[in-house]
Amino acid sequence: MSRRHESPTLTELVAPRAKEFQHYGTVVYVPIALDASVRGISAENLNQLLVDTMTLRDMYKKHHWQVSGPTFYQLHLLFDKHFNEQAQLVDAIAERIQTLGGVSIAMAHDVAEMTLIPRPPRDREEVPAQIARLLHAHEIVLKEARAMARQAAEAGDDGTNDLLVSDVIRTNELQVWFVSDDLGNRPLLAHEE
Ligand SMILES: [Fe+2]
Repeated sequence: MSRRHESPTLTELVAPRAKEFQHYGTVVYVPIALDASVRGISAENLNQLLVDTMTLRDMYKKHHWQVSGPTFYQLHLLFDKHFNEQAQLVDAIAERIQTLGGVSIAMAHDVAEMTLIPRPPRDREEVPAQIARLLHAHEIVLKEARAMARQAAEAGDDGTNDLLVSDVIRTNELQVWFVSDDLGNRPLLAHEE
């Protein structure tokens, strides 16, 4: 069938009249008394944190669905609670990027390309593997969030620093406590050290 006889898609109809108006990686002017260079660095850092937080969020849902064993119900609920908390962080980070005049990453294709968190298999994994994978992801997020918080504070971007410290770091530290300590997971951790 010739492509010529097909109806144009909605995107093809709209695209010539509705171009992109801000490229990813740029910041537009916003009057919040911060230089564009500072806002640009914060936005770039936050986009890396955003894709890693989106990946951790989705890993919690994977484990919420796929968990098994005697602790099924407890973990099923805990993983979903953490998923929802990570989803709130995702929204806060993305909206901070826009507040700074930047462009936030949004789609799964871009998240998959950019995240530093190792890709889990599609297969179901046993609980110790799920927990080890979550804790590793939390450490990646915490390490980068602390470095970014220090950089933001030194540059005078106190709003970004506060988001990183008060929301991202505290939430992730608390979730690590619940995942690693409240579930009788000590043998796993002791074995790793
Ligand atoms: Fe559910």
